[in-house]
Amino acid sequence: MTTFTPLSAFPVCSKLGSHAESMSTFSIASALDSDNTRAKEFTLSAAGLELDYSRHLIDRKALSLLLDLAKQSNLTERAAALLRGAHLNNTEDRPALHTLLRAPRASGSLAPLFSEVEATLARMKTLSVRLNGGEHTGFSGMAITDIVNIGIGGSDLGPRLVTEALRPFHGHLRCHYVANVDPADLQTTLQNLNAATTLFVICSKSFRTEETLANALGARAWLLQAGANEAELSRHFLAVTTNLPAAQEFGIPPDHCLPLWDWVGGRYSVWSAVGISCAIAVGWENFGRLLTGAHAMDTHFATAPPAANMPMLMALLEIWYTGFLGAGNHVVLPYDHSLNRLPDFLQQLTMESNGKRVSTTGATLDYDTAPVIWGCAGTLGQHSFHQMLHQGTRLCPVDFILPLTTHSSISEQHMRLVANCLAQSRALMVGRSLESAHDALLRRGFSQAKAKELAPHLVMPGNRPSSTISMACLNPETLGALLALYEHRTFCSAQIWDINPFDQWGVELGKEFGEDILRRLQGSGDTFPPLDGSTERLILAWLAEHPQPEEP
Ligand code: F6P
Repeated sequence: MTTFTPLSAFPVCSKLGSHAESMSTFSIASALDSDNTRAKEFTLSAAGLELDYSRHLIDRKALSLLLDLAKQSNLTERAAALLRGAHLNNTEDRPALHTLLRAPRASGSLAPLFSEVEATLARMKTLSVRLNGGEHTGFSGMAITDIVNIGIGGSDLGPRLVTEALRPFHGHLRCHYVANVDPADLQTTLQNLNAATTLFVICSKSFRTEETLANALGARAWLLQAGANEAELSRHFLAVTTNLPAAQEFGIPPDHCLPLWDWVGGRYSVWSAVGISCAIAVGWENFGRLLTGAHAMDTHFATAPPAANMPMLMALLEIWYTGFLGAGNHVVLPYDHSLNRLPDFLQQLTMESNGKRVSTTGATLDYDTAPVIWGCAGTLGQHSFHQMLHQGTRLCPVDFILPLTTHSSISEQHMRLVANCLAQSRALMVGRSLESAHDALLRRGFSQAKAKELAPHLVMPGNRPSSTISMACLNPETLGALLALYEHRTFCSAQIWDINPFDQWGVELGKEFGEDILRRLQGSGDTFPPLDGSTERLILAWLAEHPQPEEP
């Protein structure tokens, strides 16, 4: 395990390190009080989003040094290389071209790939329009009413988030998501559905993922049990994959398979056919608006200078906290219940991308990379973990996400939500002194002695940093821009850390061990080399609960 070592890879890092030390007395609240331009100057707008980063532990010197870091790490050139399709996924020798999925056009070497994207979008549109028009029928001839996306990781989190976030834009079709290999996930989802009117989207880039294949087989068995015959099954399945032969072997014909390409990473894939369930749920026009919003953020990312570039600035802040101030985590608090899946989505996006311990060339890093991402929809966390944010011992930078209007008709309640969001970021910053805690206790009727005794428990140190990312309204465009913002933030941090954000070798060993342990649980009668004592004991405990049938 690494201990905190300041980032040292670039010449400016030593200056950043000493400046970080001199910041120990910096007060965010005083900086805002003494400089009435700070709130405005430390705010950026792009693609319908506004980032207020004035409540951070940075002064103008820190900002200027961080911008030197952006320059020394060639962030602008790296962004251009990403967008033109350079092989930045060096360990897998391919580009990461998720931005092409939402581009209105492409030229040069990207043109042939773009034609494939356009052709796939056209097929997605046809599917979405037919399903929404009731033209696609199941085995009994009834129109499809429910879509179940079966996928996991990037084949689940992005579509699930987008579908939930855009609920006010839904048509009449209902979308459900099944990810876990635990059969309870599939069973719970299917228990209220009618097999004759349910369509499954088997979403798997590899079409080899254990959880997804197990659930796909479960779905097939459910349909057969409900009266579908083998010949009619394909009406109930779509596949989204790079592995078309495997999908066809499963029984999904080519005209029900939507392609995906190896230059789209799973966690960056919601813009592709992986997003078909969203496109069905919100209708084709709204899915197009999502892509338009993401593309607006891509254009900003490609063209704005680092000082005015929202993803770059967010990455520089992440580097500042993890690399110089020792923060090991980052909290995301969307004050919009429809974004309650955002922290889950960002966990995969940032921790699968940047949870790495070696550089692009394989050298062991001596500094921390991705922070732990966590959070939940406001105001839920206020009644659980915000205690730690306000009075705990760890530095937890927060992103507050704040749509300023609601789709709900109960706007008075939304006003309360907004008030809570603004109150939390302000309380984190201003805190409460011993004196004010003491006075508050006296006002509550405590005696002098009791107030003195209790006051330290009410003290809140304050000076706790946060960003607020606001938007006039959460709609397909602003949602697209928000997700693209975090994608590019993740990319920029990876460039400074010199890691490849587009591979995920770390997930493989557990999968291999899982296959081996499954064979042991299946009790094939084979003898296996012993494992460690703890795993062996737990396998024996499971076997004791599942006695093998006697040989006849
Ligand atoms: O195991 C990790 C992972 O490969 C993720 O990167 C990916 O999003 C997820 O599994 C699902 O993979 P697939 O889409 O190939 O089923």
